[in-house]
Amino acid sequence: ANGMAENVVWHKCSVQKIDRQELLQQKGCVIWITGLSGSGKSTLACALARGLHMRGKLTYILDGDNVRHGLNKDLTFKAEDRVENIRRIGEVAKLFADAGVISIASLISPYRKDRDACRALLQEGDFIEVFMDIPLQVCEARDPKGLYKLARAGKIKGFTGIDDPYEPPLKSEIVLQQMGEICPSPSDMADVVISYLERNG
Ligand code: PPS
Repeated sequence: ANGMAENVVWHKCSVQKIDRQELLQQKGCVIWITGLSGSGKSTLACALARGLHMRGKLTYILDGDNVRHGLNKDLTFKAEDRVENIRRIGEVAKLFADAGVISIASLISPYRKDRDACRALLQEGDFIEVFMDIPLQVCEARDPKGLYKLARAGKIKGFTGIDDPYEPPLKSEIVLQQMGEICPSPSDMADVVISYLERNG
């Protein structure tokens, strides 16, 4: 399972994460946004990147949809490919964090085990899971890309929340929910995440 790694020696350089963080005046970490399609992951990722950027912080967004156009263009939505999508984005997010960047991963990442495996790649405190806890009915009513409609019509098979599972986090650092009927604005949600980051150094 280790592939080639067995015969490969890790090369250590004198410029380390700590030096890069010193240069950038920030802590590299991973903010992992999980939730159903249409729950607002990408919108939050963008608002968060903007808010942090305005505070002089270097961020980089790894969005499932976008990464699937390049690095992950060989992957479909069947379970094993989603696992690989999550794994690769986790590894890339870790590299960005090691570079000193605040990396923002935004993908459905429907399986708990695989999100937790990404968490395990990072040091304690360097993986912040944000759960977009928006009910399916709300996401489906929004249906920004018309995909729920296609899924209900049987034209997309294995759509998350319809005929494919979503396993909600049990212990995410941040849970974002609606207040009654009202969904907080993207910038309000970003503020919740940013104040968490500030409180936790
Ligand atoms: S995953 O499950 O984490 O690998 O998915 P992700 O990389 O985030 O990609 C989700 C986006 O792909 C579109 N799409 C689907 N989503 C769920 N299930 C199926 N079968 C599917 N087919 C295509 C959809 O637009 C998702 O976009 P978001 O941004 O989440 O709405």
